[in-house]
Amino acid sequence: MSAATEREFLLSNAEFDEIRRLVREHTGIALSDSKRELVYSRLVRRLRRLSLRSFAEYIALLGQADEVELEEFTNAITTNLTSFFREGHHFEFLADTVLPALEKRNAGTRRLRIWSAGCSTGEEPYSIAVTLQEAMARFRGWDVRILATDLDSNVVAQAQAGEYKAERFEKVTSARRDRWFDATHSGTFVANAALKSLITFRQLNLMHPWPFRGPFDVVFCRNVVIYFDKETQRGLFDRIAEMQRDADHLFIGHSESLFKVCDRYQLIGKTIYRKVR
Ligand SMILES: C[S@@+](CC[C@H](N)C(=O)[O-])C[C@H]1O[C@@H](n2cnc3c(N)ncnc32)[C@H](O)[C@@H]1O
Repeated sequence: MSAATEREFLLSNAEFDEIRRLVREHTGIALSDSKRELVYSRLVRRLRRLSLRSFAEYIALLGQADEVELEEFTNAITTNLTSFFREGHHFEFLADTVLPALEKRNAGTRRLRIWSAGCSTGEEPYSIAVTLQEAMARFRGWDVRILATDLDSNVVAQAQAGEYKAERFEKVTSARRDRWFDATHSGTFVANAALKSLITFRQLNLMHPWPFRGPFDVVFCRNVVIYFDKETQRGLFDRIAEMQRDADHLFIGHSESLFKVCDRYQLIGKTIYRKVR
């Protein structure tokens, strides 16, 4: 049976290529040939919802630069896998090395800024907030803020709500969870006011201009550029470097590297970088 007869809609090679081009243009994400099934299964829901008869009609709608549908389109394409304290060594390094150094370096300004770029449903910025709150004795009276951004407006809304099912806390001890998250009657846990007060959530496409100037003492940009081609990665890390001063830190994802991508950072640990120029 051919793909066309087995399926509700036909996705021709030309249509797949046009969708890939639109994804690249609007998100920076470069989809390989192997992502055809993923594209079909994510977008077929949009076709049904909009009562469209073909991918050609859907592409035509996107071509009209329909802002609402472009947002749904990018939301459908992004992959939002995340967890609390993912790549736990980053949070240990933040607590044991970065924060003590910042306590000294920023003693004059008493200001601390951290950016979670590609924050997905919020587990990353809340893990940063827990780490900061647990070190807060060092920073009493300081101006401490975490900026958490993502392209996908759905995940930003979830992150802002900060409500998670119990199973999301697999890597967190119950004592730590109960200290920083309030249990609800429905068995979920909501980030408490101490965590939420540190974080500003914003929808932001990293490919677009950024409405802030930094500087950020620490940037988490983890498991985001894995979907970008090298050229897009180069441009992005160069812009992030512009937002940081020498000796600031950058954390990237476990399968990512700045090797031959950006020479403005020095590798100082497993996927941990310090800005040098
Ligand atoms: C796999 S998640 C990683 C989440 C978290 N940083 C972590 O490591 O657990 C990648 C996130 O990057 C976001 N993303 C992809 N392209 C983006 C872009 N152009 N601008 C902003 N965020 C983007 C996706 O929406 C997704 O939530």
